[in-house]
Amino acid sequence: MTQDGVEAVNIDTSKPHPARIYDYLLGGKDNYEVDQQAGDRLAAAAPEARIGVRANRAFLQRAVRYVVGGGVRQVLDIGTGLPTSPNVHEIAQSVAPDVRVAYVDNDPIVAAHGNALLSRSGTTRIVLGDLRDPRSVLDHPDVRQLIDFDQPVALLLVAILHFLTEADRPAEIVATLRDALPAGSFLVLSHATGDFADRSAAQAVYSDATASLNLRSRAEVERFFEGFDLVEPGLAQVPFWRPDAPPPQHSAEIGFYGGVARKTA
Ligand SMILES: C[S@@+](CC[C@H](N)C(=O)[O-])C[C@H]1O[C@@H](n2cnc3c(N)ncnc32)[C@H](O)[C@@H]1O
Repeated sequence: MTQDGVEAVNIDTSKPHPARIYDYLLGGKDNYEVDQQAGDRLAAAAPEARIGVRANRAFLQRAVRYVVGGGVRQVLDIGTGLPTSPNVHEIAQSVAPDVRVAYVDNDPIVAAHGNALLSRSGTTRIVLGDLRDPRSVLDHPDVRQLIDFDQPVALLLVAILHFLTEADRPAEIVATLRDALPAGSFLVLSHATGDFADRSAAQAVYSDATASLNLRSRAEVERFFEGFDLVEPGLAQVPFWRPDAPPPQHSAEIGFYGGVARKTA
């Protein structure tokens, strides 16, 4: 254990990690020089990158409040990211204190920080797992202990699917997860896109990172919602999904789509 309670993990600081680049862009401190350099290159390639990640995070908060406000009491958040206040369980439990949250991420440093943060919580836990193997996520004993798949679940895939290539078969992965959810469940999803500006230079920043960045068009992102009904306003650039404040500057260029959808049958 280190001083802040984070268990020692084998941290690879030779390559930028998506979770740590994102943390750096959000103004966090859980990142290394290699991630900071990648984040700076990303911000140079896509000037609205920092506003974009904040807008994505704000979308996540509004979407979690929406689904918990709609009565869901269980959240499965795959692609958790490093702790960022307020975290998903804090947002959800501020609406309904009995919400249970299972976090899943494939980055050991995220799991270590999550464990340190959550060690005293019985309603929240973090699992080291990979979205590319959805069955092992669904069957993980810690996930099963918190999430009852006979009751509605909010599945969060927020800013994660763009780290999967087509060879990973992301649509099949989402379908496997969807089929495990009962009616009344929700999908909360956001995804990077190049629809609003040429983002090939931003994409290139991830060429030496631990995961590539795979931008997708509106139609490609929409297909992830197959079997769900998008709630109003449908798929939107994240600042424009049910905003609760005036959109930030440069919102029209923000390269993140976001949407929330309900499984009705
Ligand atoms: C950009 S962060 C998003 C964090 C949070 N969902 C948000 O939107 O604020 C993406 C996260 O997905 C995780 N991730 C990437 N590929 C993954 C995979 N195949 N399985 C599980 N987690 C993955 C990364 O480690 C990182 O923590």
